[in-house]
Amino acid sequence: MPEITINANGPILISTEELTLKANDGSEIPLPKGRAVALCRCGQSDMKPFCDGSHKACGFEHDPSTA
Ligand code: FES
Repeated sequence: MPEITINANGPILISTEELTLKANDGSEIPLPKGRAVALCRCGQSDMKPFCDGSHKACGFEHDPSTA
């Protein structure tokens, strides 16, 4: 079963055996190797939709009322 974790001040982590990620045009986005994927939610990553750690440098702070 997939597990989705919203990290405080960081990415959304998805851990699963199988996952398909699609762009809004329906094309499949290749996933990094491994069983976990980190999706950017700060908007600063140079590897969107994946987190590249830029949330730390930009000081991203999540809204605790949303998750
Ligand atoms: S959440 Fe990590 S780079 Fe955006």
